[in-house]
Amino acid sequence: MKFKPADKIQDLQYFGEFGGVNPSISDSSTYTFLSAKTMFDTFEGNAEGCYLYSRHSSPSNLYLGEALAAMEGTEAANVAASGMGAITPALLQLCQAGDHIVSSRTIYGGTYAFLKNFAPRLNISTSFVDITDLEKVEAAITPDTKVLYCEAVSNPLLEVADIPALSKIAKKHGLQLIVDNTFSPLAISPKELGADIVIHSLTKFINGSSDTVGGVTCASQEFIDSLRSVNDGANMLLGPTMDSFRAASILKNLRTLHIRIKQHSKNALYLAEKFEADGLRTVYPGLKSHPSHELYKSMMNEEYGFGGMLVVDAGSLDKANALMELMQEKNLGYLAVSLGFYKTLFSAPGTSTSSEIPEDEQKEMGLTDGIIRFSIGLDNDIERTYEMMKGCMKELNIL
Ligand SMILES: Cc1ncc(COP(=O)(O)O)c(C=O)c1O
Repeated sequence: MKFKPADKIQDLQYFGEFGGVNPSISDSSTYTFLSAKTMFDTFEGNAEGCYLYSRHSSPSNLYLGEALAAMEGTEAANVAASGMGAITPALLQLCQAGDHIVSSRTIYGGTYAFLKNFAPRLNISTSFVDITDLEKVEAAITPDTKVLYCEAVSNPLLEVADIPALSKIAKKHGLQLIVDNTFSPLAISPKELGADIVIHSLTKFINGSSDTVGGVTCASQEFIDSLRSVNDGANMLLGPTMDSFRAASILKNLRTLHIRIKQHSKNALYLAEKFEADGLRTVYPGLKSHPSHELYKSMMNEEYGFGGMLVVDAGSLDKANALMELMQEKNLGYLAVSLGFYKTLFSAPGTSTSSEIPEDEQKEMGLTDGIIRFSIGLDNDIERTYEMMKGCMKELNIL
């Protein structure tokens, strides 16, 4: 039977403390025990259902974690204060000094900076590879490699990772395959395709209102327990804990994710087809011209489409900047980083979110100066939006 992530979310039924239709928010950092023995057992990890201290877990965070685990089809999940607060502890839990990671070279700039500049301080090294070249991926693996890391749809160039093939390589070499699924929630289910660990920045589509940062690690119960271990758990000890109020608000927004993703995808596909027909270099997994169009189709949960992210080349950085400023002036969206908001967001990744990547490497991966990354919003009349965007492009001689 086909995996249906939105049904898994729908089927969760929670009651609040007083019969409320939303679970009550746990407004406490610490929890009482009726007996000293239970407190001891909880520290030892043997008291199921008992809360200890909110950096470890809290009822609100567990509700959100349970819902996200259901969505990704994993046994368990741990929510964190940000996407990076999920990514870095997961990597540090799996790797120690001397270990090696093979990572896609087109990943979020913060993850890239962590692997390139921070992890080497701990003697953890990373080889960055073209994730679409499976031979290169396998060739980069050494006896010290512990993790294969990628984004399902990558930031910012929308490369698509062949998760089933990467999973085979990971299993063959005894590696953990971590997939950051931030760009493609619901549309792609990495665990179903063979990933071991699925990570999201909840800051983006899942929350959808650009009012908080958040993250989650979805994985086996064993791995999630290890992240929370009071003795050596990276999430417990590094402390990137989500606040209960935020967990409660993200859980409410998660309930409408399926409707939002469909609209983001519908709008982005409409614009991508139009921009491409107008002669602009357009990158969108839903276009037949996208090198991984067929691969995406083979992995996708069809009804959610090809996602809300779209890349257009305005020709030069000056033109890209002028276009973004003009579109903001005309209220077509905001010149801002991040994604998954109800209004359209746009930024030039080479000078913003991917600026951590050195210029020569940017060139090699096709990240040219004029590229604008769009996170397409929930506009009801996308034809009207297109006409207005086209007007801006004409005004600036981009079209
Ligand atoms: C694909 C991806 N992963 C991870 C992150 C990091 O998430 P956060 O900003 O919530 O820490 C981001 C964006 O910031 C992202 O775009």
